[in-house]
Amino acid sequence: MAGKPKVSSDELAALRQWRVTLPEHGRSSANVFAEMFQRKCGDADWSGGRVFSLIYPTGRSDVDSVLFEANNAYLFENALNPLRFPSLGIMQHEVVGMVSSLLNAPTASGAGFSAGGTESILLSVLVSRERAKAERGIERGNIVFPLSAHPAFAKAAFFLGLEARPTALASDFRADVNAVVDAVDENTVLVVGSAYGFPHGVIDPIEELSEVALARGVAFHSDSCIGGFVLPFMERLGFEVPAFDFRLPGVTQMSCDIHKYGYTTKGASVVVYRESDWMNHQMFGYDQWPAGFYWTGSVAGARAASPVAAAWAVMNYLGEDGYVELMRGLMATTSRLREGIGAIRGLRILGEPIGPLLSFTSDDDDISAIGDVMDDRGWHLGRVTGPSGLHMMISPLHAANIEAILEDLTRAVDSHAESRGAPTRYN
Ligand SMILES: Cc1ncc(COP(=O)(O)O)c(C=O)c1O
Repeated sequence: MAGKPKVSSDELAALRQWRVTLPEHGRSSANVFAEMFQRKCGDADWSGGRVFSLIYPTGRSDVDSVLFEANNAYLFENALNPLRFPSLGIMQHEVVGMVSSLLNAPTASGAGFSAGGTESILLSVLVSRERAKAERGIERGNIVFPLSAHPAFAKAAFFLGLEARPTALASDFRADVNAVVDAVDENTVLVVGSAYGFPHGVIDPIEELSEVALARGVAFHSDSCIGGFVLPFMERLGFEVPAFDFRLPGVTQMSCDIHKYGYTTKGASVVVYRESDWMNHQMFGYDQWPAGFYWTGSVAGARAASPVAAAWAVMNYLGEDGYVELMRGLMATTSRLREGIGAIRGLRILGEPIGPLLSFTSDDDDISAIGDVMDDRGWHLGRVTGPSGLHMMISPLHAANIEAILEDLTRAVDSHAESRGAPTRYN
C-alpha cells in the first residue's frame, strides 16, 4: 500500500519554516515568465516523445492549434452556470452525448461531464451508494474492485464512507472472477471491472463480472477511462475486442476520459449511466442560503470552461475517421514495440494487453535497474510492482522514437547483464 511520504522530522521542521509571501510589488511579465520558464526547464520534456504516461499528445500541430484556440476562447468563463453561458451548456450536452453513443449507451441513458477519471468514478460510486440506500436500504455499503482497478475507487470509498474490497487478480493480471464472487455480499453497492486497466493494459472479464453483479442485483462499473477512446476505434479497425460497454446488460455505468485518448487537454471526462434517472443521485441542490438556489452535478462548484470547449472542439475536429486514423498509427507503433521488446533477451510483456499500453518485466535481470538506466538516458517509463516491471502508455507522438527506445532498452539490458558477468550481444 502506498504509505505517507517519508519525510524526516528535521526536513518537516525545515519545510514549516519555509513560507512564501506575496511579493510586495508586482514584477514585469517578462521577469515573471523568465522565472517560470527557467523552472520549467527542470520538467520532463514530453514534446520530445520520451514521456510514457500522464500526457497523450497526438504530435500533430493542427490538433494542438485547435486545442490552443478552444482553450483560449473560454479561458475566463465559468462552467458552474450554463444558463449564463448557454454555449457551454450546449457543448457539454453534445460532448456527453457523443461519448455515450461511443459506448453504445441506450437512449434512456444519462451522462455527466467531469474534470477527470477520478471525479467520474467518485460520482459513479456516489450514485451507487445512494441507489443502494434508496432501493435496497443499505446504510453501510461496500464496493468490490480488482486490485488492478484505479485507486480512484479506493479513494471514492474513503470519501463516501464505504468499505473498499480489493480482490485478487488471476495469473494473467485480469480480475479473478471467483474472488469477486466471494467478496460480493448483501451490502455490496458496486462491482468494478476495468476496460482496460492502467497497470498492465489488460481487459478484465467484463462480461462475466457484469453478469455476477446483475445476478446479485448490484450496479457494475466498467471503467473505460483509458479504453473509452481506444476500444471503439480498435473495433472499427477490425481488431477483436471483448465486450466491455453497455451492449452488456449488466453494465450499469461507465467512465471515459476525453483527456486521455480523446486527445483533449486536461480536465475532461464523462460518466455515463444506463438510466438517466440515476443521475439525480449525483445532483446537489441547496436553497437555504440567501443567494438563490444552488445546483450542481459535479464535485466542484466554479468550474473551468475551457475543458468543455476543448473537448467539444477536438472531438468535432477529429471526428470518427480522425480517431480511427490515429488509432491505426498507434496500433502499428504498439505492434512494433511489442515485437521489439519481445526480441530483447529476458524481457517479457506482462499479460495480454490489446491496446496501446503495456508493461514488461525481465526473467533474467533486475528490471528496476534497467529502468534506472533508461531514466539516465532520458526516457520516462512508468513502473509497476508484483512483479516489478516497466510501464509504457503509448501515444501517437511516440511513433518517431520507437527504434531509439528499443535500441536504448537493448543497451540497458546488455549493460546490466555485463555488470553481472553474463554474456552480452556485444561479446
Ligand atoms: C483505468 C483508469 N481509471 C481511472 C483513472 C483516473 O483518471 P484521472 O487521472 O483522470 O483522474 C485512470 C488514470 O490513469 C485510469 O487509468
